[in-house]
Amino acid sequence: MRPTRYIYTIPYLERKMTRFLVNFYLFLSLTLVFSADLKEIPILGSKNIPRLLTEEIMAGLYYRVRQNHSVFFKPEDSEDLYVGVTDFVYTFDMDHLQFIDNFNVTGQNQQCSEEPCKNVVTVIEKLQDKLLVCAANGLKPQCWELSPSGNIQHKWRGISPFSYSQNSLSLFADGDLYAAAPSEVDGSLLQFRRVAGNRNYVWMHDSWVSEPTFISASLVKRADDPDNEKIYFFFRERNSYHNPEADPWISRVARVCKVDEGGPKGFFQNKWTSFLKSRLICGFPEESLYFNHLQDIYVVHAENWRQTRVYALFTSSWNFTAVCIYSIEMIETVFQNSSFTGYDQEIPRPRPGTCVKDSKSLPWGTISIVRDHPEMTDWVHSIHQTAPFYISSHNYTKIVVDRVKAADQREYNILLLATDTGLIHKVLEAGSEPFIISQTQISNNSSVQAMKLDSKKKKLVVGFSEKISTMDLQTCKKYNSCEECVLARDPYCSWTTKCTATVLGGIQNIMNGSISVCSTTTKGN
Ligand SMILES: *[C@@H]1O[C@H](CO)[C@@H](O)[C@H](O)[C@H]1NC(C)=O
Ligand SMILES: *[C@@H]1O[C@H](CO)[C@@H](O)[C@H](O)[C@H]1NC(C)=O
Ligand SMILES: *[C@@H]1O[C@H](CO)[C@@H](O)[C@H](O)[C@H]1NC(C)=O
Ligand SMILES: *[C@@H]1O[C@H](CO)[C@@H](O)[C@H](O)[C@H]1NC(C)=O
Ligand SMILES: *[C@@H]1O[C@H](CO)[C@@H](O)[C@H](O)[C@H]1NC(C)=O
Ligand SMILES: *[C@@H]1O[C@H](CO)[C@@H](O)[C@H](O)[C@H]1NC(C)=O
Ligand SMILES: *[C@@H]1O[C@H](CO)[C@@H](O)[C@H](O)[C@H]1NC(C)=O
Ligand SMILES: *[C@@H]1O[C@H](CO)[C@@H](O)[C@H](O)[C@H]1NC(C)=O
Repeated sequence: MRPTRYIYTIPYLERKMTRFLVNFYLFLSLTLVFSADLKEIPILGSKNIPRLLTEEIMAGLYYRVRQNHSVFFKPEDSEDLYVGVTDFVYTFDMDHLQFIDNFNVTGQNQQCSEEPCKNVVTVIEKLQDKLLVCAANGLKPQCWELSPSGNIQHKWRGISPFSYSQNSLSLFADGDLYAAAPSEVDGSLLQFRRVAGNRNYVWMHDSWVSEPTFISASLVKRADDPDNEKIYFFFRERNSYHNPEADPWISRVARVCKVDEGGPKGFFQNKWTSFLKSRLICGFPEESLYFNHLQDIYVVHAENWRQTRVYALFTSSWNFTAVCIYSIEMIETVFQNSSFTGYDQEIPRPRPGTCVKDSKSLPWGTISIVRDHPEMTDWVHSIHQTAPFYISSHNYTKIVVDRVKAADQREYNILLLATDTGLIHKVLEAGSEPFIISQTQISNNSSVQAMKLDSKKKKLVVGFSEKISTMDLQTCKKYNSCEECVLARDPYCSWTTKCTATVLGGIQNIMNGSISVCSTTTKGN
């Protein structure tokens, strides 16, 4: 049975959640420590009590002035990390977090030097071989192609917002630049567009979204079928269902075809002909209890596109956060099989949303359904269907996910979740059960602005308003015995003669943390 279409808010929830939370706390208290102050490390020795490693990293590179906004960019083929802040783009060596270079983009708007006129960098992308830097530039967004021979200016609209506090996102994929940013100074006309590159400039139809906040976009590759590749983007928008008890916001996944060049001349020219959207569900469908506020997204790509997974972080109106996991295969099933909301006639061929090489030759009937009814009736459910993967009272704001090869050659997913108070939680995805491995305090009281995972080097770089810090994900030295090492259930670490970075055949028991594996060998000191 399909749940009702609206979402309950606080008065109803308080009753409903009390019962639910009691059960949940009982469950959670076994798998993770819930206290706000985690200075006390749980006692070791029982399988049911996790070894929660707590540490502090206060080192880092401090800015001379506090930054209100920062963006990270790391090209795939380089060890350099670019950090865009007010007036500057800094380059760092990711390995040692050493300062390499800076590009000075100060004073591009000479008339004004106060906030909000400051030139705050909002977008860094690689466009072909050049580094593209866009900044709010005192309400006159501007992009520069940075090169040693001098900076070239562009007046491209729709890449940078007018102020860093406005919503925006960017994606460089297959030779094209996609971006979402308002095209008006008041923040309106916020859209997801293709803005530069080899293919046509394409934008959205005005009625498709309502007051959106774009969170993330990703191209999902299909090695065997490149013309069918799609760009998925994730956002939240105003809920069009006007019920006083309904949550005002709703979270979405949408997609467009990479090969979409817009409709024919005179009808839907330069507009996406393949745009479809669906509701992204995270919560308890049986109870109609949902986390509706999408906060952050991390896509873990797989060789086979069907196995590509989307990790989505949500908050709720009752201030809990949740992580739900989706597969691209399940998302595609909805887009390929669902009916179209508000349309009950026969679905024309080709089916609206199909990727075709020449989108300008699509028939009117197909395009007009995309124009008028792009919303899927079916919803996208998480792979765990009946409940979120992980729920917490911590106010998480960012997520990244690392795939880690354990000593038995199996791969495990590690979620790295950042709170608004400078903590990073390292959470193991043990089947359908979350397990908190460690908590690291990286900043005393500021919220994470940007986060970048270096999976090869097993490092996480985190940007705050006051500094940039790196967190080593392989902190195995902290575990002093085989038992501690195994109880940690940390796929980055295994026991040999000491607890060390995982080696093939090292002693480890990720799924159960069962210390019996230690007795089969002589213990270290
Ligand atoms: C951050 O914002 C504050 C308040 O608006 C402002 O005074 C400060 O100069 C800004 N910092 C930077 C680096 O732009
Ligand atoms: C950056 O450029 C501005 C304007 O050209 C100049 O006033 C400022 O001193 C430069 N800052 C640095 C650190 O080079
Ligand atoms: C949630 O947090 C916000 C901001 O901190 C607060 O105003 C609100 O009362 C909280 N809601 C609940 C249900 O605790
Ligand atoms: C999607 O629809 C096709 C054709 O109607 C059907 O064969 C397939 O089983 C459906 N897939 C799912 C997951 O429902
Ligand atoms: C959670 O963190 C965000 C970002 O710092 C903040 O805007 C929000 O108010 C916080 N929510 C609560 C309930 O504290
Ligand atoms: C963080 O707070 C602790 C205790 O309040 C203090 O000792 C430490 O110096 C602070 N670190 C930074 C970087 O502010
Ligand atoms: C917390 O941040 C404020 C600025 O936002 C700073 O003045 C204060 O020193 C910080 N506190 C600690 C303990 O670091
Ligand atoms: C974990 O425990 C379960 C049940 O006790 C068992 O079936 C499974 O083989 C164990 N897995 C590992 C990796 O030890």
